[in-house]
Amino acid sequence: MKFKKMMALVASTVLCVGMLAGCGSTSSSTGSQSTSSKSDKKVIGFAQVGAESGWRTAETDSIKSIPTLDSNFDLKFSDGQQKQENQIKAIRSFIAQKVDLIALDPVVETGWDTVLQEAKDAKIPVVIVDRNVTVSDDSLYKCFLGSDMEEEGKKAAQIVIDQFGKDAKLNIAELQGTVGSTAMVGRQKGFNETIKDCPNYKIVKSQTGDFTRAKGKEVMEAFLKSDGDNINVLWSHNDDMAVGAIQAIEEYGKQPGKDIFIVSCDGIKDMFQLMADGKSNAIVECNPLLGPQLLEVSKDILDGKDVERSIKSKESQFLQKDAATELPNRQY
Ligand code: AHR
Repeated sequence: MKFKKMMALVASTVLCVGMLAGCGSTSSSTGSQSTSSKSDKKVIGFAQVGAESGWRTAETDSIKSIPTLDSNFDLKFSDGQQKQENQIKAIRSFIAQKVDLIALDPVVETGWDTVLQEAKDAKIPVVIVDRNVTVSDDSLYKCFLGSDMEEEGKKAAQIVIDQFGKDAKLNIAELQGTVGSTAMVGRQKGFNETIKDCPNYKIVKSQTGDFTRAKGKEVMEAFLKSDGDNINVLWSHNDDMAVGAIQAIEEYGKQPGKDIFIVSCDGIKDMFQLMADGKSNAIVECNPLLGPQLLEVSKDILDGKDVERSIKSKESQFLQKDAATELPNRQY
């Protein structure tokens, strides 16, 4: 009896295993091609900063276009709403979903060690995009893809020097980007280092406008209220804040681009339009169209190839005289 039962059990187990094996092979080969090709896709989880500026929207669109550029890729997107804690949650969720690669555009530079270590432990490679991170162990991410923000600050300062000369007496108002972000830290550093040799250049006002139009306007209104007649130059870490500031300058009764020389970073269409209208003076370009480069570097990483540690995007600079010609070429 005991022996019979055992034989029955063995027989049914063999049958079951055979069936499962059969089922497995049937479903993966017929397994409807769409399912099998779907599961073959490489998935990138993208933890975005937020939607604070025209530049940011252009970057989001560019990176979201990855699956249309290459149908072997899928993209999971998370909007961090300018909060590091949201971005950390997004990365943890990407890890739980076992994505193939994580792209992180970090709102600020520090505070990423723990979560990047978690990604590394899960063997998920990380690419840092646009803004950089400062971590104690460089192996926590594969590479950085984006702009040289310090260089952008240097270029902005050089434009002011070329316009006014080193010995001019200038009162400069600075609209800073999000405090602690690479875009703010690097641009400020590059600008300040470049004007060091200009004895009469003074940063008379400096405050964050968090990279948004609304805050750029609000902060510029406050600058003008307290020191309006003394400001010669506005140095804005991005175009959107400068757009807001231009409104504030006009409402105050001054002519932006004439009474106050304006230089900003990014290169969005709205700012080119304002420059063509004579309301701003110079743009240092920061390229948000990072999708195609992110796709290429992701392919290389997932194919096990070595990639460069720091991949720079191509950028230019534009003066008011170039604006009308360049405007129709702008993609963002
Ligand atoms: O990190 C890039 C900066 O962030 C852009 O200059 C700005 O517009 C954005 O919000």
